[in-house]
Amino acid sequence: MPDKDKMSVEEILAACRKLDGGGDTSASQPSAAEEPPAPAATPAAEPPSGKKPSEMSVEEILAAARAEKAGRGEASSSEASAPTSAAAPVAPKKKPSEMSVEEILAAARAEKSRPATPAKPAAKPKPAASAKPAAKSSPKPAAGGKKPSGPLDTASILAAARKGSKRGPVSKEEAARTAAPAAAKAGSRVPPMPSKPDFLRPAAKSKPAESRRGFFGSLIGIVFGSAMAVGFVSLAVTQLLWLLGFARFMFPNILIEPPSKFKVGFPDVIGPGQVVTKFKAQFGVWIVRNEYEGVDQIYALRSVCTHLGCTPNWLEAEQKFKCPCHGSGFYKNGINFEGPAPRPLERYAITIADDGQLEVDKSRKFQQELGQWNDPQSFVPV
Ligand code: FES
Repeated sequence: MPDKDKMSVEEILAACRKLDGGGDTSASQPSAAEEPPAPAATPAAEPPSGKKPSEMSVEEILAAARAEKAGRGEASSSEASAPTSAAAPVAPKKKPSEMSVEEILAAARAEKSRPATPAKPAAKPKPAASAKPAAKSSPKPAAGGKKPSGPLDTASILAAARKGSKRGPVSKEEAARTAAPAAAKAGSRVPPMPSKPDFLRPAAKSKPAESRRGFFGSLIGIVFGSAMAVGFVSLAVTQLLWLLGFARFMFPNILIEPPSKFKVGFPDVIGPGQVVTKFKAQFGVWIVRNEYEGVDQIYALRSVCTHLGCTPNWLEAEQKFKCPCHGSGFYKNGINFEGPAPRPLERYAITIADDGQLEVDKSRKFQQELGQWNDPQSFVPV
């Protein structure tokens, strides 16, 4: 063992670690580049003797380190939870030979507080872009063959992640290009399209037999249905007609005719030998004043030809009734004298009414060939 007074700082630290029963000295070599931040002036760093560290001997320094170690064991839990970097300022990067005793102690404590696995510090920090070298260095186990269980730096973690993962497609085209060969290689095929539902399929194509049956069924239904409908409609119409006929039967025929009796004016108005034709159109009668068998009288001649029933006309100039149908001619007194008419014109009954007017009754007729013109009802004497 070298002389304690002539030991360098590194040797002192090694001796401290050995005495603490620490781990691998080679793995825990402090590095100036990655020295943990030294804690702030800790009371425990103060030597128990009250001397300044610069005035302490090596034995005192070692005793102080052991006391610090013992005291730290008690407060390890609280100290471990507290972030070291936040509590202590970052120690200046110095060579060990230039460090003071306090700095050496702080470095020793920081080294002690680290996990046992050395986790080879990134003594030569490389830029993040060079991920490969960092990835190679970080996951490597320590010299003892153990895997690093301590915290790794961010660059190492990213490098390991990038190494373990494949780069994904950055665009849709690239994804399609990469997915198509992969799918073909794997033997996968495009899933078939879902089939159409039944209600969307045309019935005629999918079920021809049923459509024929449906067609014939509908045809039969239409024929018989229409026949039934026609029958029912016909029956209803027939019943309606029967009902109307029965109603008509319940009401007897009514012949609406002009009254059989009508007045034609006063007899003194009609002059001798005058034929009044104004009642021919309405009542079918001529009122004539003429002598018949030596008697001046007024009578009513029926304006119906005795041949075939045509209506003769009075010809004032010829003083005769002339039938336009076959040319039969009648005198003013109604006797036929030419044409096919077989007999004279007929007379209606004529009387003097209560008011003194001539009243014609068409319900009674008088024929000359039967001698009825002598009936007083067939004329009014003047
Ligand atoms: Fe009058 Fe024949 S109908 S002449």
